[in-house]
Amino acid sequence: MVNKNQLQLTYRDRLKLLTGAAGLAALTACGGGGSSSPTPPSGGTPPPAPPTPPVSTTPVDGLLRDTFRNNFVVGAAIGSAQIAEGSEDADILSKQFSSITAENLMKPDALAPTEGTYTFEAADALIAFAEANNLQVRGHTLLWYRATPDYFFEGTREEIKARLQKYITDVVTHFKGRVYAWDVVNEAISDGDGPTAPYRDSNWYQAAGGPDYIDWAFEAARAADPDVKLFINDYNTELAGKRARLVTVVEDLIARGIPLDGVGHQAHIQQSTSAADVFAGLDAFTNMFAGLENHITELDISVYSDPASCFDNATGCQPSVGNTLPAARAREQATRYRELFSGFAARSNLTSVTLWGLTDDASWLNSFPVDRPNYPLIYDRDRDPKTAFLAITDPNYVI
Ligand code: XIL
Repeated sequence: MVNKNQLQLTYRDRLKLLTGAAGLAALTACGGGGSSSPTPPSGGTPPPAPPTPPVSTTPVDGLLRDTFRNNFVVGAAIGSAQIAEGSEDADILSKQFSSITAENLMKPDALAPTEGTYTFEAADALIAFAEANNLQVRGHTLLWYRATPDYFFEGTREEIKARLQKYITDVVTHFKGRVYAWDVVNEAISDGDGPTAPYRDSNWYQAAGGPDYIDWAFEAARAADPDVKLFINDYNTELAGKRARLVTVVEDLIARGIPLDGVGHQAHIQQSTSAADVFAGLDAFTNMFAGLENHITELDISVYSDPASCFDNATGCQPSVGNTLPAARAREQATRYRELFSGFAARSNLTSVTLWGLTDDASWLNSFPVDRPNYPLIYDRDRDPKTAFLAITDPNYVI
């Protein structure tokens, strides 16, 4: 039987124990001929070997989610590969996380590739996995300007509205009671102050002749499920301009009584991003109305700090760091993860924090904005917890 103290050992404690044991073993080996070493009488039984602590890079079950259990659920974005029978990823998810998001499997092109025909199987399998492993599910996403088949934009404005509302009604009804929140509208805010600002000049904006499609989406989602939390989700809320535009839109939705429960902050950040800027994004919405929630929906920390041109036209991107994460960058990243999670835990209206992936090899940032190995998450390519994991789960861990 394992005693409680053993269960509470952190990964670092185990490492310390391990180092201690290795040191002891080395001392014993060196001292073999010394006068003070216990020499067994010839033919006698040698003294018992010192106890060997667990040799494992596996943290105690539940450490990650339990560290934040009074603050927020901890999620990861995943696909079918991560839940395959017997996969190490499935094991990590079930032991360390409390929430999942479908990285792609609940987007319109995955759920309704042709009009009126739903392909729910892969998403249903994710949800079944979640339910079998006590994980909650965050829904992503009902409306986006990407990952949406062309048929959504065919016909008159009224036809487009009716089709969108039917799609949202069908999907929200299908998953009713099995997801705790939906990103109803994703990335509807403009990146600059162009003519359609604060709204993105998108296929949806053009099809609806303005931003009304946002209302249509929220109203259909609320009508289909009165209980699920409805979110508007976007990136770059750590940047003042984007944040201000999102604030304008959220204030307008609230003023007009559009059913909205919260703001999703993607938080695809770079090592150069300060935690204070991420917190400013969250705090801009705190107290906007009673009960409004913030979610961190897609957190990852790129080890590159690229200029805007890298995202705009793939120029000026930082060169690859190679096939191993340099120690200095790992430490810098761990520091940022620690700052973020401790600030997240201090914000009571932040109720969900999701990482955009589980292990570094599976991150979308290995091919976005350019092909280049990236290391943005808290589990490495060998499925071992990284320094960043230790930094957020053990306040005494020295980075
Ligand atoms: C990304 C996925 O990670 C990729 O696998 C896919 O090819 C494109 O979409 N913002 C979002 C997410 O809201 O849905 C995106 O996910 C990343 C940016």
